[in-house]
Amino acid sequence: MKILSIDPAAPEAGDLGAAVDALRAGGLVAFPTETVYGLGANALDPAAVARIFAAKGRPEYNPIIVHAANTEAARELTSEWPLAAARLADAFWPGPLTLILPKAPHVLDALTAGLPNVALRVPAHPVAQALLAAAGLPLAAPSANRSTEVSPTTAEHVVRSLGEAVDVVVDGGPCPVGIESTVVSLASATPTILRPGSITQDDISAVIGVVLMAEGEKERPGAALPSPGQMDRHYAPRAELRLIDPERSGLVALLEAVPGLDAYLPVRIDGRTYDEKTAVLAYSSAEYPGARVVRMPQEAAGYATNLYAMLHELDAQGYQRILVERVPDEPEWAGVRDRLQRASQGSA
Ligand code: TXA
Ligand code: MG
Repeated sequence: MKILSIDPAAPEAGDLGAAVDALRAGGLVAFPTETVYGLGANALDPAAVARIFAAKGRPEYNPIIVHAANTEAARELTSEWPLAAARLADAFWPGPLTLILPKAPHVLDALTAGLPNVALRVPAHPVAQALLAAAGLPLAAPSANRSTEVSPTTAEHVVRSLGEAVDVVVDGGPCPVGIESTVVSLASATPTILRPGSITQDDISAVIGVVLMAEGEKERPGAALPSPGQMDRHYAPRAELRLIDPERSGLVALLEAVPGLDAYLPVRIDGRTYDEKTAVLAYSSAEYPGARVVRMPQEAAGYATNLYAMLHELDAQGYQRILVERVPDEPEWAGVRDRLQRASQGSA
């Protein structure tokens, strides 16, 4: 595996040579986008696309987003371009918005899991832009992590999750948005948000009018999903993640969330008390004696930027459970709420 360090403020096409060569040869290249790192391959090459599924351990019924250099290149991958697509592309591309549209005939079935629609995005990150322009190819790129793990927001996360399965990792520093793009289907009768993100329902409805918010779909192995990839236990850290109510007193919440906690620890270091195994992501100013408390930003964008990085760090440090205060029930928090909800699924 080769690592290319690229200045995100001034990416030089010349510095991306090894990445472009790998893509043209059917290889896998991880690269930064404004949301999370993507695991990219030539979207027109069936063998390259198959390597993405293998590297991620991704079930073949979960389709993959295709990244294009600009709106024109994205449109070539569609067979219909409704007014809503034109308006949303105009308003939000390049940016963290993915549109689901009827696919052009030449779009590989493997990319769409046999569905008639393709997911398209024009990323805004300067390194992603430079790579797409230099490669001159549409790039299939799901998040660059093993399936069901927390998405990577740094090159180091990619290396830790995928290792030698990747040919080139383009390191362009941490991703500024920090959670995956908002996914909007324009293939259904009414535009529908399949996955909330930093572009909110209000942002979208300001441009195209009514847009629905889909209920999370259950995972159904073996069948293409109506809004696929909305697998319940997704984005989960290794540690057990539980949501807790910030309005409870911190100690009560801690004891309720972790039966038996009072029995085995805490330890005292320098006059402070720690439970070596439990961390709390705190949005409020509640105290959690005995746990490692991480104070998260109080606005949604800052919280999103830090969330995955924090989960990766706590996993790396060996925490066994992460208690996360529920975030506000406001529209701008929908993306973070959705990821926390999914990450907590499967934790008994
Ligand atoms: O921010 C992002 O979207 C990142 C960066 C790398 O662009 N990509 C990403 O890809 O999160 P992935 O594959 O991890 O998530 C793609 C989401 C999944 O929920 C997938 O099921 C859905 O988009 N999707 C992809 N193709 C689809 C299709 N044809 N119809 C419906 N949903 C689709
Ligand atoms: Mg993913």
